[in-house]
Amino acid sequence: MEMDFENRMVTTEYIPEDEAENSLRPRALAEYIGQEKVKENLSVFIDAAKQRGDVLDHVLLYGPPGLGKTTLAAIIANEMGVNFRITSGPALERPGDLAAMLTNLDVGDVLFIDEIHRLPRAVEEILYPAMEDFAIDIMNGKGQGAMSIHLPLPKFTLIGATTRAGQLSAPLRDRFGVISRLELYTPEELALIVRRSAGILDIPCDEDGALEIASRCRGTPRIANRMLKRVRDFAQILNGGVISAAAAQTALDRLEVDELGLDMVDRRMLTAMIDHYNGGPVGLDTLAAVIGEEAVTIEDVYEPYLMQIGFLSRTPRGRVVLPAAYAHLGIPQPGQQTFG
Ligand code: ADE
Repeated sequence: MEMDFENRMVTTEYIPEDEAENSLRPRALAEYIGQEKVKENLSVFIDAAKQRGDVLDHVLLYGPPGLGKTTLAAIIANEMGVNFRITSGPALERPGDLAAMLTNLDVGDVLFIDEIHRLPRAVEEILYPAMEDFAIDIMNGKGQGAMSIHLPLPKFTLIGATTRAGQLSAPLRDRFGVISRLELYTPEELALIVRRSAGILDIPCDEDGALEIASRCRGTPRIANRMLKRVRDFAQILNGGVISAAAAQTALDRLEVDELGLDMVDRRMLTAMIDHYNGGPVGLDTLAAVIGEEAVTIEDVYEPYLMQIGFLSRTPRGRVVLPAAYAHLGIPQPGQQTFG
């Protein structure tokens, strides 16, 4: 079964054409739409730290990709009035890479580590004393003349982001004072985000047009903003330039994203589960082999949305396709009598 994973309209991965994301990123908490609980708590922690003249506690943000973890981290730094330094787990290959970043921080700065679950073990071990005691011990030289040097660091705030909180080691997780989970956005929140983005990009888009994009973007602002730009092209050529519900429908149908935001890849995955495994339970590794994707990708990228809309469930014996998915795909469910 051939599947095109590279060019999915609905990929949650950051791709080069998302570059406009930067101009769309809200800079203040008040501009950030959705994630209300997370925002309310963070705003208390930020105000309290500022009032005490203290540095903000370390923060862990986790949840599916594309929901604005980096954006939120940048906002936190902005609200605290400090520098925002950004790196990622895979970029920090050696302890020295992290040491170099840490020793260049000013007091109170935010160091953001994206994909923090991919930090190499040796680097993670430097992070423990850095987070806890604001100091690191680094080895200088090799063999007999090797010396351990104790380096005090400025007090700083680490913000870690991960799609997989469960994959963090307990010692690392325990060193975060604040742990916040980002959720998929509601269509109403997404419609506000689409309208806001359309305003910034000067794209005419009415309320129903925004809602149509909102209901097809799988709860994910990154996808909504990407769709906005593609739908604009269709609207410009076919609909006199304005993104209306009809324009958005036409455009997204042509892009093979259905009314619920599923694309061919999702539909084929569900269909394969139904055709070859009677709808499950199918083990995660079997599913991964069937569709030629990695198990972690299925868990982080495909499943959150399918579970949110009640199409798929995770059971101890494997993944199961739910009745709503059969109905959506127009496939009769085995064992279900069909009348008429
Ligand atoms: N763009 C992407 N995510 C956003 C959000 N949560 N609020 C406002 N604009 C956004």
